[in-house]
Amino acid sequence: MLDRADNQPALPPEIGRRRTFAIISHPDAGKTTLTEKFLLYGGAIQMAGQVRAKGEARRTRSDFMKMEQDRGISVSASAMSFEFDRWWFNLVDTPGHSDFSEDTYRTLTAVDAAIMVIDGAKGVESQTRKLFEVCRMRDLPILTFCNKMDRESRDTFEIIDEIQELLALDVAPASWPIGMGREFLGCYDMINDRLELMDRADRNVKAASIEMKGLDDPLLDEKIPPHLLEKLREDVEMARELLPRFDAQAFHDGSMTPIWFGSAINSFGVRELMAGIGNYGPPPQVRPAEPRQVSADESKVSGFVFKVQANMDPKHRDRVAFLRLCSGHFTRGMKLHHVRTKKPMAVSNPVMFLASEREIAEDAWAGDIIGIPNHGQLRIGDALTEGEDLRFTGIPSFAPELLQSVRAADPMKAKHLDKALTQFAEEGAAKLFKPMIGSGWIVGVVGALQFEVLASRIELEYGLPVRFEPSQFTSARWIAGPKDKLEAFMKVNKGHMAEDHDGDPVYLTRLQWDIDRVERDFPELRLTATKEMH
Ligand code: G4P
Repeated sequence: MLDRADNQPALPPEIGRRRTFAIISHPDAGKTTLTEKFLLYGGAIQMAGQVRAKGEARRTRSDFMKMEQDRGISVSASAMSFEFDRWWFNLVDTPGHSDFSEDTYRTLTAVDAAIMVIDGAKGVESQTRKLFEVCRMRDLPILTFCNKMDRESRDTFEIIDEIQELLALDVAPASWPIGMGREFLGCYDMINDRLELMDRADRNVKAASIEMKGLDDPLLDEKIPPHLLEKLREDVEMARELLPRFDAQAFHDGSMTPIWFGSAINSFGVRELMAGIGNYGPPPQVRPAEPRQVSADESKVSGFVFKVQANMDPKHRDRVAFLRLCSGHFTRGMKLHHVRTKKPMAVSNPVMFLASEREIAEDAWAGDIIGIPNHGQLRIGDALTEGEDLRFTGIPSFAPELLQSVRAADPMKAKHLDKALTQFAEEGAAKLFKPMIGSGWIVGVVGALQFEVLASRIELEYGLPVRFEPSQFTSARWIAGPKDKLEAFMKVNKGHMAEDHDGDPVYLTRLQWDIDRVERDFPELRLTATKEMH
């Protein structure tokens, strides 16, 4: 039996039952299929088809652009809420493409745990590894689902070893597969001592689930052919000897992952995984903030924006800011304090993503994600509170790794381009730098595909064909320090200076050597590759 995570402070029941998580995986491992099944068991069957549409779009390289054309899908898939058993799940979608690492990072600041889906035949793949590293930066607890066991898979011990070695993570089996590929029968549930059998004939039907009195139970002999049973008994015995026992503390610290085996397409193992998130997954956690951290059980509402999505409806230039509630009980119409601008903000039409369609949220609790339609007042990193000046930390903006200058194909449309670029910068889709000398913009991104996505969106959403061209600069660093020193520096380095869209000074260059030189010659100034959003 696994230990429950009993070291958590007692939370109000509505908050205590919330589980806010994301799925991380390499493309094709089965994230979409698993999401569909979650929704199926969460009573949101009508959504299943829509998620599938997204899965198919993903396989074309420009999945993002395609999704843009049908914002309904990508938006409702950004954050979805559903109930299962006594739990309330908020599933936050991580962007599919490896290029969007900054976006992904910020998405992962909004969750308390992640499910890592791996393909049983492929094990830990490159994208899984990258996303895992992001989770590790935040010590997020990870639950692992080893998918596609109905296909020829790798040996179970080999998969577990690979996770332990590549990710430096202890692995505690929650279930153990019986056979694999064509012979895959199901799993032995190591937590509850149950035999779970897969139904190959009907993918959506519940698998048989039979209580066992341990591995010696004679019932097992009736249900499992001798050669598979012998292997199961041997394997489990060895696993219990060699592998660590599940330890709730180590799981919550992010140093141990429980693993379930299954087949998402056959709906197999999914409910056990969901029960695992419910039973062992962390409820809304304490959030780092300045000047003090925020606990989920505080009665006053607070939250931060981790994502902004613009032009959801091409007819209206509206945007939705996605707010992770960190504390309290939010009710519709509440007047909140917008910490950055110090202005009150009435949140009268918040949107909750209840799987099938967006719905007006009448209320929401710490852990939930609400969408707030707005006209640009809300930016990534902004905090809303009931009056306190809090700033949630750990939501960084990364210096872009690729810079290009951009111009409108029609020079008369420069103003429109300014507007489009500013909007994308506020959405977090790109960095925008206005050089001190000359006209025009320099756009910075983390992955090359983002230039294409931007060009496509500017054309689609603003009817404005644009050209991206190589810039004379390749690196950008935010620069800060005493005012007089900074001003003196900027004066003599005008050709290298720009402002980002918040008006913060940025030093642009081609050479790492330049950056080293500035650091050496101007010790009072700080050059940074990340900036905390505020
Ligand atoms: P992704 O979102 O992680 O990219 O993966 P997705 O769920 O789209 O799944 C990728 C492919 O793997 C799909 O097949 C899907 O049907 C298949 N798949 C998912 N889970 C399982 C499983 O448990 N067993 C097996 N055998 N296959 C699984 P596809 O042929 O690319 O698409 P489709 O034609 O099935 O839609």
